[in-house]
Amino acid sequence: MAGVRAMVDLGIDHVPNEYLTSICKGITIKAPNNLPIIDLSGIDNDDLKRKSAAEEIHLACQKWGFFQVSGHGISNELMQDIIKIVHYFFNLPAKERMVYYSTDIYKSFRFSTGSIASAKKKFWSDYLFQHCQPAVHEDDVPESIPNYRKITSNYAKAVDELARKLLRIIAQNLGLDWQILEKHLDPPKQTMKMTYYPQCPCPDQAIGIGCHADPGTITVLQQELGVEGLEVNYNGQWIPVKPVEGALVINVADMLQILSNNKYKSAEHRVLVNTKGPRVSIASFYGPTDDKHIAPLEELLGDNPPVFKACLFREYMDNFYKNHLGTRNIETLKILNN
Ligand code: OGA
Ligand code: NI
Repeated sequence: MAGVRAMVDLGIDHVPNEYLTSICKGITIKAPNNLPIIDLSGIDNDDLKRKSAAEEIHLACQKWGFFQVSGHGISNELMQDIIKIVHYFFNLPAKERMVYYSTDIYKSFRFSTGSIASAKKKFWSDYLFQHCQPAVHEDDVPESIPNYRKITSNYAKAVDELARKLLRIIAQNLGLDWQILEKHLDPPKQTMKMTYYPQCPCPDQAIGIGCHADPGTITVLQQELGVEGLEVNYNGQWIPVKPVEGALVINVADMLQILSNNKYKSAEHRVLVNTKGPRVSIASFYGPTDDKHIAPLEELLGDNPPVFKACLFREYMDNFYKNHLGTRNIETLKILNN
């Protein structure tokens, strides 16, 4: 299977059976989107700015598990370059894309489609998946894309800096030592999923990605400007997350919910497709390495019993890939009668 883009290029005018889905459908609230956009500029040198951004982040982590940031330090040029790379790859002839096709989740660079092999229904999306920490294997990286290595490694470095900055603020917001989350993740695992959602002839019959929460600690997501699709679940209502020029979307992922002992909630989200044109996004997943055990931080327990059992991140990921569609993976770790 060469992917959704290849199928669309053949001029398909309907949604094939294996993509037909009503999973996680539900009404999109067209109300104004008041997901906060938090300005991080100047927070390293100005205590007042840092304090006010930290407060906003605390509230957003509690209320939404989702927020946007501006002034984050990743240049507009780099943000544009990485989107161009994804378009470049998906505009290659299907045969050239297939050279990189793989369903092996441990491969350090691969092209894949329809999300997960075990899902009964497929998603209307293709993607590139790349390891950033530990680094991608040089031999796996596509040579034919101009500046691919340089741009993706600069981008990954900038995301690493931003993720660390946010984890320090989040640790302090939890009343803990500023280094505790960074130390806990040391060394972190960082991966990047560059998704291409082709236009769809009948958008209400297919879904770009079904509802899920990300498994890692935090996710840094760049949306291509001009095309909407991402929605966050807020108290059972789906709210669009509009692309904002220069801004990045941050979301709390499952491991942060566990580490924080439920103080912060990972947010369910999904991506709808449209008839207008392709949409590209760059999701950077930042979290523990596969061999780490994750449990609520002892420093947070005090009088509060742990809400979650400990888990080995590799097992959590394996379950995520198995159950991904429409299920809330973290529920399996809840300690009942708490
Ligand atoms: C993901 C994801 C959102 C998007 O890949 O986990 O939620 O906007 N992506 O593509
Ligand atoms: Ni996600």
